[in-house]
Amino acid sequence: MTDFDRVRPLVTVEDRSRQFSVSAIGNEWSRRYFDGPFYLHDAPAGRPAISLVFVQSKDGNTVAENPADLGGGPTDLHLIYEGLSRVAADAVLAGASSVGPNTLFTIHHPALVLLRYELGLPPHPTQIVLSKSARLDRSARIFNTPDVPSMVIDGSEPLPEALARLRRDHGIRRISCVGGRTTATSLVNAGLVQDIYLTTTAIEAGEPHTPWYAGGRPPRLETIVRKREVTNHLPLVFEHLAIAGAPFAR
Ligand SMILES: NC(=O)c1ccc[n+]([C@@H]2O[C@H](COP(=O)([O-])OP(=O)(O)OC[C@H]3O[C@@H](n4cnc5c(N)ncnc54)[C@H](OP(=O)(O)O)[C@@H]3O)[C@@H](O)[C@H]2O)c1
Repeated sequence: MTDFDRVRPLVTVEDRSRQFSVSAIGNEWSRRYFDGPFYLHDAPAGRPAISLVFVQSKDGNTVAENPADLGGGPTDLHLIYEGLSRVAADAVLAGASSVGPNTLFTIHHPALVLLRYELGLPPHPTQIVLSKSARLDRSARIFNTPDVPSMVIDGSEPLPEALARLRRDHGIRRISCVGGRTTATSLVNAGLVQDIYLTTTAIEAGEPHTPWYAGGRPPRLETIVRKREVTNHLPLVFEHLAIAGAPFAR
């Protein structure tokens, strides 16, 4: 049995997707395991669409030396985090503190590799790292994998302009931001994020008082769908939430 075989299906608890202007993606495997289509917002004019993806413990913490300790398990890892949240993304964006020497943000589950191919996208998303300090290790895997474009946003221009440039000059229409909370908060505060894909585990874990939003103006969130993992052992809750007041495509 591989780790892929340990993915458990989700079941829909709440579906308000008809109240949002979202597009649906999926294939036979993802619809079965996600219990329906996965939704995306289209990009607003002149910018990429940006979604966040976080796993938080039952008590709302997102920081852990090893995020696996937060209890997401194979379902969150393969179906959501390395799966549906990035399958349609042109790029994955991370803060410098969330990139290790061997990090490469891509898709591994064969059914989702296939879905990405069916969506007409290259196998690996562009890798974007946010870092002001220039302390980045340029020998890290993320910057040295053949056929995988990578770039750094270095804080030399405001975030909205940097992101408009990615759309204009590099054709990047959709970004999955994988955190951490400092980076996610910068993007939310700049009004650049449409969605959050949030998995809540059934265990208390992580560094205390580290919710995914670390700023002083928490956004109002609206539920698009809520799902629950089908298992008797510590089921996850998954929520797709819209950030109220974000720039949405018209
Ligand atoms: N639960 C989850 O889903 C999840 C997801 C990701 C990470 N994590 C965990 O979260 C922790 C890391 O989170 P974190 O909040 O400390 O750090 P982070 O957001 O990953 O990275 C912070 C760094 O990103 C750069 N940065 C952030 N905003 C920027 C901006 N507006 N402009 C330029 N650079 C910017 C800065 O890099 P420089 O210092 O180089 O300037 C900053 O020090 C780790 O424990 C990781 O395992 C958890």
